Amino acid sequence: MSATAHALELRDLTKRYGQFTAVDAVSLSVQRGAFLTLLGPSGSGKTTILMTIAGFVAPSAGMVLLDGSDITPLPPERRDFGMVFQGYALFPHMTVAENVAFPLRVRGLSRADRDAKVRAALDLVQLDRFADRRPSQLSGGQQQRVALARALVFDPALLLLDEPLSALDKKLRAELQEELKALHRRVGRTFVNVTHDQDEALSLSDQVAILNHGRLIQLGAPEALYEQPRTRFVADFLGKSNFLQGLVQESHLGGLRVQSGATTLVQQAPRALRPVAGSPALLSLRPEKIALLAAGETAENMVEGHIAAWSYLGAGFLLVVRTADLGEIRVTLPSWRAPIAPAEGLAVRLGWSADAAVPVLDDAA
Ligand SMILES: Nc1ncnc2c1ncn2[C@@H]1O[C@H](COP(=O)(O)OP(=O)(O)O)[C@@H](O)[C@H]1O
Ligand SMILES: [Mg+2]
Repeated sequence: MSATAHALELRDLTKRYGQFTAVDAVSLSVQRGAFLTLLGPSGSGKTTILMTIAGFVAPSAGMVLLDGSDITPLPPERRDFGMVFQGYALFPHMTVAENVAFPLRVRGLSRADRDAKVRAALDLVQLDRFADRRPSQLSGGQQQRVALARALVFDPALLLLDEPLSALDKKLRAELQEELKALHRRVGRTFVNVTHDQDEALSLSDQVAILNHGRLIQLGAPEALYEQPRTRFVADFLGKSNFLQGLVQESHLGGLRVQSGATTLVQQAPRALRPVAGSPALLSLRPEKIALLAAGETAENMVEGHIAAWSYLGAGFLLVVRTADLGEIRVTLPSWRAPIAPAEGLAVRLGWSADAAVPVLDDAA
């Protein structure tokens, strides 16, 4: 397949249904060949945005631009984007090859041209051996790969995916995630994927757009979003986090000194995220950034507590530690780093460094 990747931009995209705003002034751009994921809870507007990009839903305001040109007025068939949905909707009476050939037949390609392209597309998803089977003779994962081949066979400008893996069981989903990532690399096209699965978003994407109530909350590379969430919602939705509340005592170049009851927290903070002295602070602290301190060991931040609950996770332990000033703190420890056998009621000291947490805005509803 020839490699012409396209850049996509949404500018103040808005969709209203009566009084209800499903998509609220969303602006973002996707670079040529990038993999963007729209991530958000159910009802956050993901599908509506995708349908607007595809041309099936007309926005109430705003624009969709492809390589800088406004395509908002174009009907779906003039956009020529590939689409894959959750229910793969293959034609049951057609073979795999006929399913994949369908978009080419619609476009009036000759038999010979069709055959070559179908073979290439099936090759791409490693289903060349299954060309003559019917969908009912394939597993769910294989059917979804046929749907991918069908969406890519006509060399679309963009590939739009709406929760393509959500109908599959966990293990198969993880396998197909890896395949989808490899496929993206192989075809070099711009992909826009929709999911409510945070692991999928983190592992697949170059960029993730976090949505809530139709609004874009934060856009960034997976690592940047995970390590520097701007709000409580982002920290909470993408992974798990503890939220520590306190009052800012000092705010300066080195960071923050935050008081929470009798506990003093020191926290690095870039200027933009530094609340002023006297204001409340909310810190997001990931469970894997906290250590159990051995006797005599110190850390920049320390708090005492006792284990209120714990569970074995296979790769490690989850501890719920009850503290006087900071409430319950969740800690995950790889088993090789757990200095004690966890037990309910056990007194422990937790420690973390000044760069472990991030100050976040409190956007909790
Ligand atoms: N055709 C429609 N008419 C009225 N409300 C709609 C319509 N389509 C979607 N909505 C509403 O818009 C919101 C966003 O929907 P959707 O984009 O499907 O969310 P998501 O894909 O993130 O689950 C939901 O509250 C949904 O009920
Ligand atoms: Mg949806």
